[in-house]
Amino acid sequence: MSITEKDKKYIWHPFTQMKEAVQIPIVKGSGVWLFAEDEKKYIDAVSSWWVNIHGHSHPYIAEKVYQQFLELEHVLFSGFTTPVATELAERLILKMPWQQKVFFSDNGSTAVEVAVKMAIQYFKNKKEERNTIVVFKNAYHGDTFGAMSLSQKNIFNEAFSDFVFDVKTISAPEYGCETHSINELKNIIENEKVIALLYEPMIQGAGGMRIQNPLALNNVLELAKSKNILLIADEVMTGFYRTGRMFASEYTTVKPDLMALSKALTGGVMPLGLTTCTDTIYNEFLGSTIEKTFYHGHSFTGNPLACAAACASLELLEKQKTKEQIVSICERQQEAAHLFSVYNKVKKSRSLGTILALELDAEQGYFSNIREEMYSFFLQKGIVLRPLGNVLYFMPPYCINTNEMNLVYEAIHEFLKAYQPKE
Ligand SMILES: Cc1ncc(COP(=O)(O)O)c(C=O)c1O
Repeated sequence: MSITEKDKKYIWHPFTQMKEAVQIPIVKGSGVWLFAEDEKKYIDAVSSWWVNIHGHSHPYIAEKVYQQFLELEHVLFSGFTTPVATELAERLILKMPWQQKVFFSDNGSTAVEVAVKMAIQYFKNKKEERNTIVVFKNAYHGDTFGAMSLSQKNIFNEAFSDFVFDVKTISAPEYGCETHSINELKNIIENEKVIALLYEPMIQGAGGMRIQNPLALNNVLELAKSKNILLIADEVMTGFYRTGRMFASEYTTVKPDLMALSKALTGGVMPLGLTTCTDTIYNEFLGSTIEKTFYHGHSFTGNPLACAAACASLELLEKQKTKEQIVSICERQQEAAHLFSVYNKVKKSRSLGTILALELDAEQGYFSNIREEMYSFFLQKGIVLRPLGNVLYFMPPYCINTNEMNLVYEAIHEFLKAYQPKE
């Protein structure tokens, strides 16, 4: 049986209507390139769902994971710890001095859920009655039940609408929505006892690469903080220089109480999730009786191989060459946003850090008819770009070179020049 036949026979893929779906068998990856079984190659222009930052099959990360494997591949994380998990925790906390403790899990959804569970139990432990969680409109925090409850209600989670919990929503402080955002929060605060505000700082990814005004975001966070509402920054997508800074929370002076990290944490090579928090939160869980304990954990918590990959990725991020690459990608993306804005098919063109997003003048929403057209066009050109409906975005690994970026830009120009919107 070929890979494709075997895949069709045994596998159910994520976010995929399987009836007609065809998967491309990828047999090798190197740098920004993915190599298919039929020898066609593709630029991974979406960093494989935003996880990859140093390129595929990076030899340094591979070596570090291999070395760790020879020492210890995994051990349960309750009652035991490891040098590599402690090293990773220390490295991270040094980079975000507003956080003091690290809790491990294994993906972005669980990292968010852990943060929300911590926030809820924090007030329970304090015996302070609070009952509402506030989130931004158009949010995406993952696909588990908790994460779905916290995300924008849409076609993807509609089937589960009777089974998720209620949250309150406010507009994200995008440019043009600044006053709405803060006023909506004021209204909720007047009527509810809010536990936490959960937000994707500076840019909402899956919601359509929507960029926020940092000053307005700061005002919203400041207001929440003044009411002792816990701030939970979901940096699953924004962390590790995606927005041009190590964390998007660096754009605001008001810092989160809890943070969720995943995706690029390991350089994108192994699953790992992290929830970080302040000592104030952590200390509220200490006690001589069991009631205050945080009873949450996963089999692969603190997996040493994933931690080794994360430490190696952080080392690579500290290299001068990587920093220069990031600066150069940010500059080029900003320039590109400007250049692409001249096409009348481009309704809005924006960039933040290493991300470029073009909102096309076409049917809106994830199932916009232009989505499939764009996806196929770029695939055929050897470029993986997976538009979010009518929003085309380019989010490359940081190892991408000028020529490779040009290939993507040229293809986008070609698409925009030729494209006529369907009636
Ligand atoms: C902001 C944000 N939070 C959470 C998640 C969920 O992460 P995962 O897919 O690892 O569960 C995502 C995934 O895209 C995300 O973008």
